[in-house]
Parts: sequence; structure tokens; C-alpha cells
Amino acid sequence: MATIREKQGAAHTRIMGVGGYAPSRVVTNDEVITWIDSSDEWIRTRSGIQTRRWATPEETVLEMSVQAAGKALAAAGVHGDQLGAVIVSTVSHMHQTPALACLVADRLGTNGAAYDISAGCAGFCYGVAQASDMVKAGSAEYVLVVGVERLSDLTDIHDRGTAFIFGDGAGAVVIGPSDTPGIGPVVWGSEGDKYGTITQTFPWNEVPEPGPDGEPARGPFLQMEGQAVFRWASYQMAEVSLKALAEAGVTAGDLDAFIPHQANMRITDRLVKVLGLPEHVPVARTIAEFGNNSAATIPLAMERMLQDGSAPHGGLALLIGFGAGLVYAAQVVTLP
Ligand code: COA
Repeated sequence: MATIREKQGAAHTRIMGVGGYAPSRVVTNDEVITWIDSSDEWIRTRSGIQTRRWATPEETVLEMSVQAAGKALAAAGVHGDQLGAVIVSTVSHMHQTPALACLVADRLGTNGAAYDISAGCAGFCYGVAQASDMVKAGSAEYVLVVGVERLSDLTDIHDRGTAFIFGDGAGAVVIGPSDTPGIGPVVWGSEGDKYGTITQTFPWNEVPEPGPDGEPARGPFLQMEGQAVFRWASYQMAEVSLKALAEAGVTAGDLDAFIPHQANMRITDRLVKVLGLPEHVPVARTIAEFGNNSAATIPLAMERMLQDGSAPHGGLALLIGFGAGLVYAAQVVTLP
């Protein structure tokens, strides 16, 4: 009987380039408090958010993805037609099928494999792990990972628990072969017993009723048990971060940047404390400006930190994403 020939890919992988896209419309806390009973001070102190970006109708998930991807490809020195796969992490592409990734791939000029993943705010780190494994296995030489959201489309502006948190945006990286290790082992998992803590108000196949005065039907929206998520992220994600450092064989003191998902500034503060992160290690705090745009927060923050010089090209960074599922993923990477 004939045996199957297997393929062998690269010994190591790395992030070759990163790009981001922040939508043009700045939504201030003063605007948010015209929708909900709150204050600028409450929002700043409880979440760290000062502004968030919301997309205009022209800034679709496709356009934002293509913009971010174009920058990542240029930074990596890779052409779209060299991409063997395109992975898009999103929960706000409003079509269950086909995948947004197919349109992104087409716009970039590749017929490589293309699919979306639904891993909420952990989606970018999930994508990086998959892409790295693909390059090592030889299923693709270069893989694009995009995190993109228009959470403004899924936000009930009258919900006090979520209206001030979410934002829109996109970030992308190109992952490819490397001479030295550039992407550490992923520490990832799910806690489906907490499925109900971040959900949609109703499934896509339920048709909402119009409002009592004949206003158009609204939703579905994202809803969240804020305190439960906050506790989970602050405690369990600290453990996951420590595990990712240990698996990569590095310590917090070896890091040149800490880039956690931007869910709440107080969650970031708590992670920094538990990690015992030395003061000289820069920490992503882009939530202040961009809000929580889910799968896009980490690559957007990475691009920003490299651009403003707070994190060095070639430095070591710890990434951790966590969110709806509940799901999480963390890995140590070399910055492009
Ligand atoms: N403005 C002003 N006051 C508000 C408010 C708002 N938008 N929302 C709630 N409050 C009030 C509550 O009524 C409550 O008042 P009380 O003490 O008089 O009863 C008080 O603030 C505390 O409410 P609570 O819900 O406990 O707030 P919190 O400290 O947990 O902060 C979040 C709320 C949403 C900021 C926080 O829970 C959080 O960030 N959770 C995680 C969010 C997250 O990471 N989501 C994405 C996952 S990827």
C-alpha cells in the first residue's frame, strides 16, 4: 500500500509585519453620556476609556481589514499573492456565511485558503497560533491574520453596562518562516461553563419585534455580566500570562512589551501587578483612545507601540487575548 507523503514547513516562525486601522469618528465620553445615565469621570475611572473610535458607513469590516492588511504586507515585504492563507477573526461580519476572509483574500490578490474564526477578544491570538502552526506544518508559507470589528453595530447605546466600552477597528499581521524562534507556544483554552457571561441578546435567526411606538426593531446587541467577566479576566488571565511566559522559557523581566487585550484599564493594571512586570517594560494602554475593539486591540496596540517607539522592533512581547466563550490565548512573540 502506498504511504502518504507528508510536508514539512519552516523550523521557526515570526510576525513579519503589523498594520492597523482606526476609524475616523472619535466618540467622546461626553457623547456617550447623552445616551446613558453616567459621567465622564465614572467611565474614565472604571474603565480607563476616554474616547473610542466608531466606524462610518464606508468603514466596513472589509475596508478596515484591507487597509490594515495592506500596511502589514508592506511592512513584511510580502505581496498579497504570496499569502497561502487568510484568517480573519471577527464577530461583527454580519453574514454567518460566506466568510469575510474570502473577500479580504480576493481584494489582496490571493486565492489562498480563507476563513473566519469566532473567538471573540481572544481571536487575534488564536489566529496567530493557527498561522504559526500552518507555516511550521508547511500548509502555507505566509499567512495573514486580521482582527476586525464594528462593535458599534452590536452595541445598545442605552445599555449602561456596555455602551461606553466597545469600539471599532482593525489590525493585521503577516506570519512567515524565520531562522530563529519568533512565536512561542500558545497557552489557550475555553471555559464554556461561562458561555452566558458575554452573549448576543438573541440569535440571528430570531426576528425582533418593532418597538411599542412602531420604532424599528433593534438588535441583536452584545450583553455582558461585567463583574463576572472582570473577576475572571483579572485572576485567571494572570495565571495564563504566567504560563505563557514559562512555556516560552522567559521571565517578565525579559520582556520589552506587554500587550494584553484592551478590555478595561483596571484589568491591565491587575495583570501587570500579578506578573510582577518591571517598571521599564512598556504596557499597551490604547483602550484610553480606542476603547475595546475586541480582536483588533492587540495588533492595533502593537502597531502603535512600534510607531511611537515605546516598544522596540525585534523585542520580546507577551500577548494575551480573552473574551466571549469564554476563551483565551496567550503567547510570547518577537515584535516585527
Ligand atoms: N455609569 C455610571 N454608573 C454605572 C454604570 C455606568 N455606565 N454602569 C454601572 N454603574 C453603577 C452601578 O449601578 C453600580 O452602582 P451602585 O454601586 O450604586 O449599585 C456601580 O456603578 C458599580 O456597578 P458594576 O456593574 O459593579 O460596575 P463595575 O465596577 O463592575 O464596572 C465594567 C463595570 C463593565 C466597567 C466592568 O465590570 C468591566 O470592565 N468588566 C469587564 C468588561 C470586559 O472586559 N468586557 C469585554 C470582555 S473582553
